[in-house]
Amino acid sequence: GLGGLYGVANAIPLAASATPIPAPDLKTCGRATISDGLPLPPMTKLRIRSPAHAVDEEYIAKYNLATSRMKVLDKTEPLNPLGFKQQANIHCAYCNGGYLIGCKVLQVHNSWLFFPFHRWYLYFYERILGSLIDDPTFALPYWNWDHPKGMRLPPMFNCEGTSLYDKRRNPHVRNGTVLDLGSFGEKVETTELQLMSNNLALMYRQMVTNAPYPRKFFGKPYVLGSDVDNSGTIENIPHIPVHIWTGTVRDLDAPNGEPKYGEDMGNFYSAALDPVFYCHHSNVDRMWNEWKAIGGKKRRDLPDKDCKWKATGGKRTDITHKDWLNSEFFFYDENENPYRVKVRDCLDTKKMGYAYKPMATPWRNFKP
Ligand code: C2O
Repeated sequence: GLGGLYGVANAIPLAASATPIPAPDLKTCGRATISDGLPLPPMTKLRIRSPAHAVDEEYIAKYNLATSRMKVLDKTEPLNPLGFKQQANIHCAYCNGGYLIGCKVLQVHNSWLFFPFHRWYLYFYERILGSLIDDPTFALPYWNWDHPKGMRLPPMFNCEGTSLYDKRRNPHVRNGTVLDLGSFGEKVETTELQLMSNNLALMYRQMVTNAPYPRKFFGKPYVLGSDVDNSGTIENIPHIPVHIWTGTVRDLDAPNGEPKYGEDMGNFYSAALDPVFYCHHSNVDRMWNEWKAIGGKKRRDLPDKDCKWKATGGKRTDITHKDWLNSEFFFYDENENPYRVKVRDCLDTKKMGYAYKPMATPWRNFKP
């Protein structure tokens, strides 16, 4: 199925071992050749990503302007790779079989490719937005759903008629409903306060208790063509519940009010058509930094029954396995230059030119 957000329909494990994932072969697309090792575009000043609920009017106006200019680029034929739709299509291509290597589908979800793919994806998206408003310091906001103040749809995405609005969201996002970070569509009746405290406890579990070493946090190795769910703690929860909460509508005519997995955020193929997607993933990306900041004791490699790969490095650090470090993705920068980028070059956000404005992380002391 196309959805992919709600579990894996055809889990066919392949006997192959993990290998570094190469960038797609673009010769078949007739595009320019990609020079290897092209240096990243120069950076000027650090871009600072701020919590979306706390930005000022000036920022909101800039972000709207940049997004609307990106949407204007969609009006030309053939589609501009920097346009909003083509940017959203990148996500679709990488999750629904758009890219074939050999004859196997490249999938960037459900494995250790999840964090680095989305980091690079946002990196280029942010640069394109900035260049459309001539602001080399422009930074995406982050949806601070791990903090009680950020557990609703950030208001800037809820202004009808603006470029950040998306009418295909679940109507409940419009009236200040509090997010349930643990829900895959079922609704639990509870107070807002209780829900927020459940969310903090859940964050503690996913960041601390359940993710003491890299394989748990990042997920297991990706095997080309495989559709097995090898996702890490945060990719599974709350990453997916936030998608579902935003994009899914309950069908009240169905017998038990069955959830209908709506367009845009509720489905992988369409998720990036909602501008809030990038704000959501900005916080997912921030969790990567936060997780490493927790640290922890060095542990011995733990043998894993399900896969031969062992958790290398121990404690809360990046994966040191070369197959991960050498995996590659492909993107266009703001000047339509094609880039082949490696996982090893996205481990330090400051080196990439951006950082997160610090926010308190109350979940860190939220032991159940
Ligand atoms: Cu590529 Cu939130 O999914």
